[in-house]
Order: sequence, then C-alpha cells, then structure tokens
Amino acid sequence: MKTERSMYVCGECGGASLQWLGRCPACGSFGTMREEREEPPRRGTKARESSLLRMETVEGESPRLRTGIGELDRVLGGGAVPGSLVLLGGEPGIGKSTLLLQAASSFAMGGAKVLLVSGEESAAQIASRARRTFSLNPDLYLACETDMESVEGVARELSPQVMVVDSIQTMRSPELESSPGGVNQLRECVARMQALAKETGAVIFLVGHVTKEGVLAGPRLVEHMVDCVLYFEGERFDSLRVLRAAKNRFGSVSEVGIFEMTDAGLREVEDPSRLFLDAREKPVPGTAVTVIMEGKRPLLVEVQALVAPSRLPAPKRVSTGMDGRRLAINVAVLERKAKVALSERDIYVGVCGGLQVSEPALDLGVCMAIASSRYDRTLPPHAVFVGEVSLTGEVRPVSRIGERAREASRLGFLSLVISDKARAQGLPHGIEVVGVRDVAHALAAFGISRAREH
Ligand code: TYD
Ligand code: MG
Repeated sequence: MKTERSMYVCGECGGASLQWLGRCPACGSFGTMREEREEPPRRGTKARESSLLRMETVEGESPRLRTGIGELDRVLGGGAVPGSLVLLGGEPGIGKSTLLLQAASSFAMGGAKVLLVSGEESAAQIASRARRTFSLNPDLYLACETDMESVEGVARELSPQVMVVDSIQTMRSPELESSPGGVNQLRECVARMQALAKETGAVIFLVGHVTKEGVLAGPRLVEHMVDCVLYFEGERFDSLRVLRAAKNRFGSVSEVGIFEMTDAGLREVEDPSRLFLDAREKPVPGTAVTVIMEGKRPLLVEVQALVAPSRLPAPKRVSTGMDGRRLAINVAVLERKAKVALSERDIYVGVCGGLQVSEPALDLGVCMAIASSRYDRTLPPHAVFVGEVSLTGEVRPVSRIGERAREASRLGFLSLVISDKARAQGLPHGIEVVGVRDVAHALAAFGISRAREH
C-alpha cells in the first residue's frame, strides 16, 4: 500500500522515483524498484570540530592484523587494516560463515579480542560449527543480535579488535521504520558500522548476501562505503573455494586465495596446481593441460573435451568453467582453419576443479582437447599448451610466460607449446619449448589428424 511518504528505490543503484516503475530510470535495471518509506532525518548531529590537520603530524596506518590464514591474509593485501570495513559476499552455503569463524578464531589465537555478531543463526548453531572446525577460543565472543544499537553497545562494552557481522542484511537500525535488508536500512547500518570501526579501531567483517546474478545485494553505494569487497566462490557440489578481492583500498585486487571445504571446515590449499590436475597413469584422448593465471599465481589446469556424434539439427556446445561464446569461437576456428570436422557432433568442454576461467590463454588447450577427442588421439602427458587462438587460427603469445613455464616445470612437465612468436625469455631449463604458428600446425606437430578419424 502506498502511503504519502513512500518512495521507490532501486536496489541496484539507489536511484529513487515517486512512483513504481518496472525499470529504474537511473541505471536501467529491470524489476529492481522497491517501496521504501521516506525516513526522518538523523537526529543529534554534533557540533563540528575543525578537520584541518598539519600533514606531518598524521600517523601512518596502524600495523595490519594477520589472520594467520595465509590465503585470506594475502587477499586482504597482507592482513586486515584496523578500523576498516571488509564486505564478504557469496552464495548461500558457500562457506562465508565458516571462513569468518575460522578467521575469527585465528585472530583470537593471535591474541586479539574478537566479537561475532550473528543475526542469522542461534548461539548453539554457531558454537557447534566452532566445535566442528576447532575454532573455540576464550577470546572469542558471540552476540546474537540484529539491532544496531545493541550491537554498538556490545562492541563498546567489549572493545574487540575484530568484529564479524553475519549478515549485514539482517541488521536493523531502530530509527528507521523500514524492514531489514531494504536499501535504506542497509545504507544506514553500513554507515553505522563504518562509524563504529573508526571509533573503536576494530576491523569489521560484514557478510553480504548476493543476488541470483552473483552480485552483492543492495545498492552499489554499500560497496563504495566499505574498504574491501571480497567474494567467496565455488561450485556448490565441489569442495574447492576461491576467495577474490573485487575492491581493496589497501592492496591489490589480483590476489586470490584457494581453499577446500572439508568435514572440519575450510583448509588452505597450498599447492593448488596439483589439485586441478586429474592424476592418472595413462593419457586419455580429449584431455590437454594448460597453465592459467589466477591473479598473480600460475595454476595448471586440465581441459577435458568430449566430442560425440549428434542427432540434433543444432548440435550441442556445452562448456563448464569457461565462457560458452569462447568455446563457440574455438570450435569455429578448428573447423574452418584446421579442417577438423565438428559440424555434426555434440561438444562438451570442461575445466577441471570448478574454476571459472576467462583467460584467452586457455584457447590452445581447449582446441587441442577437442581435436584430441574428435580423432581419439592422446596428447603427450608431459606437454602443456598455452596460447590465445585468434579468429584466423593463429596462436598468439600470452603474458607471464616465464612464470607459467616455471610452474609447469615444477610439476614435472617437460614441454611447453606456445606461439612461435612468443619471446621465450626467462624460461626455466628443463622444459622444452615447442613454438607453433597456428592451430593446424599445433595439431600436425602432435600427429592429431583426420587419418585417425573414427
Ligand atoms: P556456511 O559457512 O554456513 O555457508 P554460508 O555462510 O556462506 O551460507 O557453510 C555451509 C556449508 O558448508 C554447509 O553446506 C556445510 C558445509 N560445511 C562443511 O562441509 N564442513 C564444515 O566443517 C562446515 C562448518 C560446513
Ligand atoms: Mg552463513
């Protein structure tokens, strides 16, 4: 029901309108306008103090608080900065509460006082998760609260160095009448958390829900208000989890952390390349190994392809872990430029381990795996294929080839197949470089051809 003081606010951008609209006039998103009651202005603004400072007198940032979880510290840019706000987004069930509980416990183990605020789960549920993940610690405190005022009260009482709020969407500022999770509430609660972080010097981690599209629910504004936005991702039915930074005021956004969900919580994966390679004794047709960059880290991954006769008028092209359009391009290039007959075949391609790879350096591996399956020929198990494939079929050089080669060599691979135009500088000894001009050349070099068609 519309009251006189209602407005409609876009959940994406925070744009407002007096009437309901199917499409936000500000950002153009569909179906995002929600009714919000207009809120009374905040009361009691303090008399302003001068903000003028002599810059030399300003102290630098306080030392970072390390969680002791190396993968998390790295993504944070070397630990958490006191007084900052970190937003952690991810789909339900991916492990956000678990990650932050383990981080909280680790902080406490390092001597910090830590407060967990939960608006989602009961104390018993959280304690049982803590037992299961061996996270109990005398310096770990818990408050099951959703009221901002009470949260502030508890925080002032305990003065923790670290706070975890699970989730920001369940918090409610009592001055506002609207329900929790709405745009106004969210904005207000984040602002109050920000003030609390500044006042107490605590690092505050906020769990944020994501929408169906995988972006943080709520106005973009919230992302601007926090110092750090992290996403926790992975396949629901796969144990691998990847933590990445989408924004970091205190570090780079190209770092990723890799974890595995186990029965006793999240475990850091120290040698991720090994995890993505399917260990097997004999090579099988339809597989090719490549080296991708996840942030600054090279990772070996196996591409698997299955090419099967199709009875469909439009054969299937199904990809997991890579972009479907990229697959379609790779298939078209294989057909037209390398004369691999694929038109009446269904093609399935997957990147092992539940990663989502968007790097063009994956192309050559994908093409090799598809052709390998098509002609039922195996590729040498000690070779890795790294290159972008252009629309003309040319194999192009990719960045950071030295780092990729070192990682491949470390894991025992003996040959690196790359563009013949790549400048093979800084490559480790012990890995042979095979330069290829184009896809047809690469296939010929490994004896993958129509002669073996079945
Ligand atoms: P949770 O941290 O509750 O996810 P989120 O807060 O993102 O919704 O983790 C939920 C899933 O993780 C749940 O399906 C159970 C699984 N899990 C484990 O496999 N091992 C564990 O030790 C824990 C605590 C959870
Ligand atoms: Mg949770």
